[in-house]
Amino acid sequence: MTPVRIKPNLYWVGAVDWNVRDFHGYSTPAGSTYNAYLLLDEKTVLFDTVKKPFAKDLVTKISEIVEPERIDYIVVNHVELDHSGALPEIVSLVKPEKIFCSPNGKKALLAHFHIDDWPIEVVQTGSKISLGSRTISFIETRMLHWPDSMFSYIEEDALLISQDAFGQHWATSERFDDEVDESELMYQSAKYYANILLPYSPLVQKLIAQIREAGLRIDMIAPDHGLIWRSNPEKIINAWERWSRQETSEKAVLVYDTMWQSTELMARAIADGLQQAGISYRVMSLSNVHRSDVVTELLDSRSLVLGSSTINNQMLPRVADLLCYLKGLRPGPKIAAAFGSYGWGGEAVKQINAAFEEMKFQVVDEGLRVQYVPTGDDLKKCVDLGRKIGALVRQGAPA
Ligand code: FEO
Repeated sequence: MTPVRIKPNLYWVGAVDWNVRDFHGYSTPAGSTYNAYLLLDEKTVLFDTVKKPFAKDLVTKISEIVEPERIDYIVVNHVELDHSGALPEIVSLVKPEKIFCSPNGKKALLAHFHIDDWPIEVVQTGSKISLGSRTISFIETRMLHWPDSMFSYIEEDALLISQDAFGQHWATSERFDDEVDESELMYQSAKYYANILLPYSPLVQKLIAQIREAGLRIDMIAPDHGLIWRSNPEKIINAWERWSRQETSEKAVLVYDTMWQSTELMARAIADGLQQAGISYRVMSLSNVHRSDVVTELLDSRSLVLGSSTINNQMLPRVADLLCYLKGLRPGPKIAAAFGSYGWGGEAVKQINAAFEEMKFQVVDEGLRVQYVPTGDDLKKCVDLGRKIGALVRQGAPA
C-alpha cells in the first residue's frame, strides 16, 4: 500500500497486517493494522511507528513523501511493541532532534530498548509544541491502554491521534470509516473494546468526560489500529461511552464445553427455556468459538450461563481458560448460572460458581448437575433453569 493523505500535509504511513491471527490471546481473524502518521510542517513529525517486521513498509511509505532523515520529531503515543517495535530502526535512520513521550513513556522506552542516547523529551497533559503552522497538545491517557499511553491533538485540524483508543483489529484496503460496512466496523470496534479496554471502563468514562468538559472539537480521530473516523467521530466516542457503562440488554450468553454431549444436551434444554422466556440469547460451544468472541457477545449481555463436564475433578480446560481470561477483563455484574454433567466427582459446577462469586456475579441457585446422561426429568429441570434465568434477565440488570 502507498501512503494515504488524510489531511493537507498529513499522511497515514502505517502497515496492514493481513496475517496476524492472535493478539495476546485475542483472536484476530480479520488481521489488523499498525497505523503511523506523518505530518509535514516547519517541523516534520512522525506519530508512532509499527510492529518490528513492518519497519521496511513504514520507511518505504515515508520515503514516498519525504526523505526519512528530514523527520525532526517522533511522538511516541504508546510504547507497546505493535507501535514501537520498529522504533530503534527508525531512530537510527532518522536521528530525530527530539522524541516526545509521556513520563511513563520514558520509563517504558528505557525498559524496552535499554538506550541512553535517544533525545527523549517528556511531555504531560497540557504540554504543547508548535510545529510552525500547527500545534500539538498532549493528553495523557494512563492505562488506556498502558501507563505510558497518551493522545496527540492537532488543534488546527481538530484531529485526535488516539493510539489504541477507538481502534479495531481489522485489516482493510480502506482507511476511512465511511469506506467500509458500518455494522462490521462497529462489531470490530465492540470486539476491540470488550477484549482490551473493558477492565479500564471507569477510566474511559473519566477520559470522555474530560474531553467533553474541555470542549475539544474533534473532526477526525486517527487511531493506531483500523479505520480513521472522519465522517462521524462522535459515533465511536458515544459507543465507547455506552460500552464503558457496561449497559446490558435482555440477552444471555450460554457457553459450554462437553465430553460426551451430555452437557451439550443440557445446554440445548436451557436454551429452550431462554427461548420460552422470550429473551435474546447466543449458544456458544467452546470447541467452535474463541474466548474473545464469547467476551464480545458478553459485552451487552445481562447473563452468562456456563456449562462444563467434570474431568479428573476439574472443569474442562477450555472453560478454565475462558474464566481466567474473563476475570482479568473485570466484566460488570451478570446473572450467572453453572451446569454440567459428571461421572462421579462433579466438581466443575462448584468451581464455575466459585469463579462467578469472585467476579461478583449474581449466581442463580447452586447450579445444575446431572450424572452421566440426562434423563427426561433432568432436561425438564434444564428448561426450567433457562426460564428462570430468562425471567431474571427480563426483570433488569443485577446490582
Ligand atoms: Fe496497540 Fe496497546 O497496543
